[in-house]
Amino acid sequence: MAKIVRRVSLNPILTLLEVEAPRIAKKALPGQFVILRIDERGERIPLTIAEYNTAAGTATVIFQTAGATTARLAELEAGQDILDFVGPLGKPTEIPEGTKKVCVVGGGVGCAIAYPQAKALHAAGIPVDLIVGFRNKDALFFEEEFKAACDNLFITTDDGGYGEHGLVTDVLKREINNGAGYDLVIAIGPVPMMKFTALATKEYGIKTLVSLNPIMVDGTGMCGGCRVTVGGETKFACVDGPDFDGHQVDFEELTNRNAIYREQEKHACNLTGEVR
Ligand code: NAD
Ligand code: FES
Repeated sequence: MAKIVRRVSLNPILTLLEVEAPRIAKKALPGQFVILRIDERGERIPLTIAEYNTAAGTATVIFQTAGATTARLAELEAGQDILDFVGPLGKPTEIPEGTKKVCVVGGGVGCAIAYPQAKALHAAGIPVDLIVGFRNKDALFFEEEFKAACDNLFITTDDGGYGEHGLVTDVLKREINNGAGYDLVIAIGPVPMMKFTALATKEYGIKTLVSLNPIMVDGTGMCGGCRVTVGGETKFACVDGPDFDGHQVDFEELTNRNAIYREQEKHACNLTGEVR
């Protein structure tokens, strides 16, 4: 059992849960994730660790209400327990030695995971620009935290209602063309965003890491649910990743595999009354 010590509604569909997990807090590094299960009948859901506090013994996750389970999770309050909260899983993000300047790019909910990456690089003294993109101003969260975690923050919205009008890739290409001098880009967000970020950086030969979010079940490399193809080889995101070379990922396969259970998910939402 893991107790929820803090619950914050970041926007109508985004929730932050800080959970009592001293062993995870002690070992976690940026890029790693947990798998949680609300109760005995709950499905397992993987969530990247957005923040960990060793002194308080807590780990924080941020998630979007996207289906039946996340809708139930969002209803839990501080003081309630989650049955299983297992981690840290996956490999921490590996920053190549000698990296001089990094651009961390976050899309929507993925910004919750881009944030600890930028924060860790910034704390290590590596110059870091952070580009975060949202559909509109209402979807934006953590603006102050983002500012504190980088040298330059760029905010985009799809509708132009806040920050710069456009997509994160528009700003990334502009900054590269203006001579920003990135030698590493880390992209975390929806699959199309990571795909187009990797396509953009490939033109310039800039190493690009993407944090993949395939369907996961056991999180131990046994079930094959998180199978992805990288550089023509089969990899399991839960143990070989979740970070991979964005220039080598088969994004089309990832998109197709992520859609496999869409009908069942709709059915589950209908049963619980959750609207999608
Ligand atoms: P969204 O669709 O609102 O997109 C967020 C931003 O990403 C946009 O504002 C835009 O700047 C950029 N973007 C989106 N599509 C793009 C494209 N084709 N080209 C260039 N830029 C593009 O995102 P959302 O609804 O908040 O995010 C939800 C998705 O993020 C879910 O699919 C979820 O699975 C995924 N996610 C991924 C991770 C991960 O580890 N990779 C973590 C959390 C969430
Ligand atoms: Fe089962 Fe990765 S989640 S192999």
